[in-house]
Amino acid sequence: SIKAVVLAGGSGTRLWPLSRQQLPKQFLKLNGDESMLGATISRLSPLVERSDAWVITGEKHATGEAFSELDGLHLILEPCGRNTAPAIAVAAAVMLDFNKDDPVMIVLPSDHLITKKEAFQKCLKQAIEVAMTDQLVTFGLVPDAPETGFGYVQAEPEEGAIHKVLRFVEKPNIAAAEQMLEEGGYYWNSGMFVWKCSVILEEVKQYLPSLWTVLERMRARWQTGEPWQEVVRDSFADMPDVSIDYGVMEKSKRVSLVAADIGWSDVGSWDAVHEMAKHDEDGNEISGNVLAIDCKNSLLRSEGRLLAAIGLEDIIAVETPDAILLARAGQSQRVKEIVGELVKTK
Ligand code: GDD
Ligand code: MG
Repeated sequence: SIKAVVLAGGSGTRLWPLSRQQLPKQFLKLNGDESMLGATISRLSPLVERSDAWVITGEKHATGEAFSELDGLHLILEPCGRNTAPAIAVAAAVMLDFNKDDPVMIVLPSDHLITKKEAFQKCLKQAIEVAMTDQLVTFGLVPDAPETGFGYVQAEPEEGAIHKVLRFVEKPNIAAAEQMLEEGGYYWNSGMFVWKCSVILEEVKQYLPSLWTVLERMRARWQTGEPWQEVVRDSFADMPDVSIDYGVMEKSKRVSLVAADIGWSDVGSWDAVHEMAKHDEDGNEISGNVLAIDCKNSLLRSEGRLLAAIGLEDIIAVETPDAILLARAGQSQRVKEIVGELVKTK
């Protein structure tokens, strides 16, 4: 069988003031009525239907504002955040232990934009076939800048979309990123993975023994009849804090890559939101309670109070009940400096 596991436990703050600890990016409606998480699940259909999609996220998101996005989905709830490796390992173990077969598991981040749905589904089908040969499959995107927030994957130069992976470098420094870009043959890791549950668990056992030990204890308990949800609540905090990229992907010797031209963006800033949005003819992206006169190339967004703007050009303005962001377009990456200052003064 095929199951999708959507990772939705991250606590992004790059879209401050809209994204917060309590309501990270995956729960935001950035482009219409659907949250990024909702869109992640919708774009799987018809290959994987909602009934085979699972979401793994923090317990704290299962109440409050984010909950409406989770209602009616299969959930695995973490009592605390331990990054992606424990989340994926627990999901794989639950999928394997409570299914009659060894499912192929599609792991998806919940906070990315993919505009080419059909191309995406075609890539998924290719990846599933490769995963059936006991490979860990990742999707590669052609890099266009030396970004340091991504993983880089060096692929064997082969004909077609499917490649053997030679090297996986998670979040290089800027010098290394520039060098890989110059050298060529590298892709960005998209953070989406496809593998058999049994295969990822073998790799976890080999490369993350301390995580494996805790997982074994958990499985022993739920195999003797304790509800797995309670076992997870009980023991999850004992797991090490590590991402699947550092923990497994950098080390594994059986990684393959599917080159994916799918209109991907990780929407990591307000500038990226502006870029992906459907602008009006003046290049503005306006949403909520906004009255704009003679504005150009601006993103204007208000949750509540009337935001009235005259003659603005290249401005980002985001109103929320307790904070307003005003930034020059092109500088929205620097929101992290604001979040940094706020954390300091708290
Ligand atoms: N359930 C759960 N629990 N989900 C989590 C946790 C956690 O503790 N931590 C993060 N996630 C979710 C996030 O919500 C996101 O959907 C996904 O897992 C990836 O986590 P990020 O924190 O966004 O990872 P990243 O952006 O630093 O790096 C990853 O993605 C890049 C592409 O965007 C890596 O896979 C990179 O190699 C990759 O290039
Ligand atoms: Mg991310």
